[in-house]
Amino acid sequence: MNLDDLDKIKKVLGKDEEYVASKVLHDLMHYSPNLVYHFYSLIPAKYSWPMEKTRWGLPKLIKKMEGKKIKLPPPKESLLKMSVADALKLRRSIRRFKNQPINVEQLSTLLYYSVGIKGSSWGIPLRMFPSAGALQPIETYVQVNNVTDLARGIYHYEPDEHILVLLKAGDYSREMYLYTLQQEHVRDAPVNIILTIMLNRTQSKYGYRAYRYALLDTGHVGENIYLVSTAMGLGTCAVGAYYDKDIDKLIGVDGIKEFSMIIYPVGVPK
Ligand SMILES: Cc1cc2nc3c(=O)[nH]c(=O)nc-3n(C[C@H](O)[C@H](O)[C@H](O)COP(=O)(O)O)c2cc1C
Repeated sequence: MNLDDLDKIKKVLGKDEEYVASKVLHDLMHYSPNLVYHFYSLIPAKYSWPMEKTRWGLPKLIKKMEGKKIKLPPPKESLLKMSVADALKLRRSIRRFKNQPINVEQLSTLLYYSVGIKGSSWGIPLRMFPSAGALQPIETYVQVNNVTDLARGIYHYEPDEHILVLLKAGDYSREMYLYTLQQEHVRDAPVNIILTIMLNRTQSKYGYRAYRYALLDTGHVGENIYLVSTAMGLGTCAVGAYYDKDIDKLIGVDGIKEFSMIIYPVGVPK
């Protein structure tokens, strides 16, 4: 198998011969497992995508969870203290945090300007990040270690009401540290923001291309978190190295319909 053989995929996809496509992708798996994601995403949206998974109506775009609701204070724009140009220039991955809490107003502002809802268009929420087909596959969880006036625990952020829903109370900093291959910045951060993907939202329109779009959506959110944190005088660092199953279990998602994708510890830079 070499890269020239990949031309076969294009020919195969011209016909309706899924079994040949599977064979090519199987060979590709031995050549470079990573490329399988990419080549699946080249399959046009409608090709062989099971009709029952295609959307008849708009999928539900906001997950609602059971638990104690905590109303966040209104986001405060004045906490963002610099231009986009300055935030871009200053942004770094911050891995050392002061042993200092952030406050709930800062958390509210960070969540709102990173993943919040800023309006609606044709009844569809408009988010702070662009999203393929406006299908918004991303959900946001917050593991709280040290936020003034907010109990430690794991929360789900619900952008339609701008609330946190408490899923599990308690100190999960040790679990977070162990599950992220002992990254100290995760253990020491006042909060860790965990992004998940509910792929069915994007799949309902884009079929095989959905994984590609969902990752791109996640990246856009990630940059929001970086820039908003920087503008607020806070710091963050994308953390992709972790044991997925453990983090998924900790936040209570099944790893199939919904799976974690990346973690952002946020705190006051040292
Ligand atoms: C998808 C992704 C995953 C990352 N995973 C980790 C990680 O697990 N641990 C870590 O310390 N940094 C991680 N980083 C941060 C990078 O190491 C960092 O962005 C890079 O070194 C460039 O530095 P800068 O962000 O300060 O410009 C990750 C970055 C990205 C975009």
